[in-house]
Amino acid sequence: KAIYILNGPNLNRLGTREPEIYGSKTLADIEADCRSATKHDLVFKQSNIEGEIVEHIQEAADKAAALLINPAAYTHTSIAIYDALKLLDIPIVEIHLSQPAKRESFRRRSYVSEAATGTISGFGANSYQLGLQAVINLLKMKN
Ligand code: DQA
Repeated sequence: KAIYILNGPNLNRLGTREPEIYGSKTLADIEADCRSATKHDLVFKQSNIEGEIVEHIQEAADKAAALLINPAAYTHTSIAIYDALKLLDIPIVEIHLSQPAKRESFRRRSYVSEAATGTISGFGANSYQLGLQAVINLLKMKN
């Protein structure tokens, strides 16, 4: 089974989007870094549309060994994404490039944290690498 890595709204603009907060790597760079870090099968997706992300999570419920998700702004708003994550019986890692706790107060609430196994945030593009390592270790412990 594959490791799913899902990305929410505006992350398709990484590289030029507020680089002082999110860094200069594009999402394609981050995907390439993830692929070179593991031989594990990866399914890497991005969507700006909440319902599409819900569908990707539902697909992961059937097909994934583990899920990494950077829900972007939907982290702080989406009960639909929270409910979809509750369908999963696999490790879920919430990822953020920035450290939301240090930013605007509306970013302090994460609905996703309530469904995730754990969260990695604040390490820039490296948050993805750390998250990937975390799920790979968990999967190794299970086998
Ligand atoms: C983000 C943090 C969110 O608060 C924000 O809405 C994003 C990106 C991050 O990766 O730091 O779009 O998820």
